[in-house]
Amino acid sequence: MRTKYCGNVKIQDVNKIIKLCGWVHKIRNFGQFIFIDMRDSTGLIQVIFECKNYIAFKIATTLRNEFCIQIFGCVRKREEKNINSKINTGNIEILASHLNILNTSKALPLDYINLHNYDDARLKYRYLDLRRLDILENLKIRNNVNYLIRTFMTKKNFLDIETPILTKSTPEGARDYVVPSRNYHGKFYALPQSPQLFKQLLMISGIDKYYQITKCFRDEDLRSDRQPEFTQIDIEMSFVDSYQIRNLTEKLIKHIWLKTLNIKLNKFPVMSFQDAIKKYGTDKPDLRNPMEIIDVLNIFKNKKSQLFFNLNCQKNNRIALLCVSEKLKISRKIINNYIEYIRKNHSSKLFYIKIKKTYDEDQSISSSITKILNKKIFEQLIKKSKAKNGDILFLMADEENIVNKALGLLRIKIGNDFNIVKKSQWNPVWIKNFPMFEKDSQGNYSSSHHPFTAVKKHHVNKLKNEPHFAISDSYDLIINGYEIGGGSVRIHDANMQRKIFDILGMEKHIQKNKFSFFLEALEYGAPPHAGIALGLDRIVMMLTNSKNIRDVIAFPKTTSATCLMTESPSKLDKSTLQELGIKLNIKQKYKDF
Ligand code: AMO
Repeated sequence: MRTKYCGNVKIQDVNKIIKLCGWVHKIRNFGQFIFIDMRDSTGLIQVIFECKNYIAFKIATTLRNEFCIQIFGCVRKREEKNINSKINTGNIEILASHLNILNTSKALPLDYINLHNYDDARLKYRYLDLRRLDILENLKIRNNVNYLIRTFMTKKNFLDIETPILTKSTPEGARDYVVPSRNYHGKFYALPQSPQLFKQLLMISGIDKYYQITKCFRDEDLRSDRQPEFTQIDIEMSFVDSYQIRNLTEKLIKHIWLKTLNIKLNKFPVMSFQDAIKKYGTDKPDLRNPMEIIDVLNIFKNKKSQLFFNLNCQKNNRIALLCVSEKLKISRKIINNYIEYIRKNHSSKLFYIKIKKTYDEDQSISSSITKILNKKIFEQLIKKSKAKNGDILFLMADEENIVNKALGLLRIKIGNDFNIVKKSQWNPVWIKNFPMFEKDSQGNYSSSHHPFTAVKKHHVNKLKNEPHFAISDSYDLIINGYEIGGGSVRIHDANMQRKIFDILGMEKHIQKNKFSFFLEALEYGAPPHAGIALGLDRIVMMLTNSKNIRDVIAFPKTTSATCLMTESPSKLDKSTLQELGIKLNIKQKYKDF
């Protein structure tokens, strides 16, 4: 039906007769001439209908936006003054000789030109939203990244092996999506939160090097970088240590960045979980922001300070600060806004010290802790934080977790508010050695990564009496504050796996019911193995500079996990429910879409 694509017509084609197919993007009718921007998957081109070509012109007067058309015409060079540098084909145009309307279109429910669209409308009419060239460009980049991954992994002798979608629950920290079984009423498949157990089983099968680009399903609260179904680049290898997995992943990421953005990434720094929390208050630090949290607990050891801060001595406390440069020119009003923001969300124990520009003995600071701030403390603070005249110190004294969270957030907020985050930079970092477990207020343990993560060899003893101090052989890859991937060395010994389940409070009958196949598999000469999974959607989000993960997924869900286009989830009719042996007991009221 066509001899060229709209976006691919070149100046070299001038005077050629060509055939194009696509959509009417924009129409301008000047009486004697009708100009249209015609669009296909490669881009836009200008087409002109002259009134002297009566038949084509007459049909062109009936055109409306998004009509699907075929045109025949001659390629012309545009006059210098008419060149449009905004589009690839801006130096040429097509003088149309024939026009076929292949299909008409209703008036669009979306505004392509000014892009003033509600998110809900974009999702309901996703197939129309996808006609936008910027979203299409994201999907092309995604396609290219897929290709780069597949060629890279194949060259390194990894086998791409598919694992089941109808399966049994794999704990990754979210709720499962479940599918009822028609043959076994009351029994359900779970959709995989990840292929974790299957990739480990493949190592037990002797596969040695596995990868897969695969869908995962997690019923959890959604955010701008989270979808209920998302795609992982899942990797597992036998007879390797954590360094080898990180090394391979680093090469893959560098390859993707080089081939997609033409950017050479430097060697990724490695930081322990503990250091990340201490310096940045988070295990996902954005290293484009140069500010670091500085410990000053030792400076405030005296009784007067302890009384002033009113710390609970039963808890682990931290006194730490952020030093904000004078160059940012933070006003007193903004200081108060930050203090108020932290007070509302975290703690009232954030204080400020503003070091005045000119040093004048007692007048050299203004602060909300002048009561305890003597000259000695002040000088120690300046020394520790390397603060200069005019700088502001935000000091916090509270339980360790609260200080980490609050100063971590304040660091991000100040970084964004004052543009000190170097937006054009790429700062990957490996965070390694996470604790094996997190302990809740009732003293129950949960896995920091997942229950199949191995403990560091020299921490095995800690599992007995102090599991909360045991460190795991695990690693996350963070780029510019986004968690791009996570993995670990795995437990390959059945008894150790049982011990970890025990610590997690998993009763024996549950271990048997959920994991007997896996525990048994570990007993047949399971090799030492390790792996990682990378979030493909997040990688493409970064490469395309997208603010929302939805912009890199063809058919994404809303933040409440619905699809506005197909209107799913949806009700089942009575006979299907009966077939599945399901009786509904609906108490919750909700609005249909
Ligand atoms: P983890 O749970 O850390 O590890 O997931 C790996 C990576 O997947 C991405 N990711 C998501 N992306 C979009 N939406 C979501 N809801 C979502 N959840 C996770 C993140 C994350 O770093 N089986 C282990 C990996 C392993 O141990 O090998 C796992 O799934 O980028």
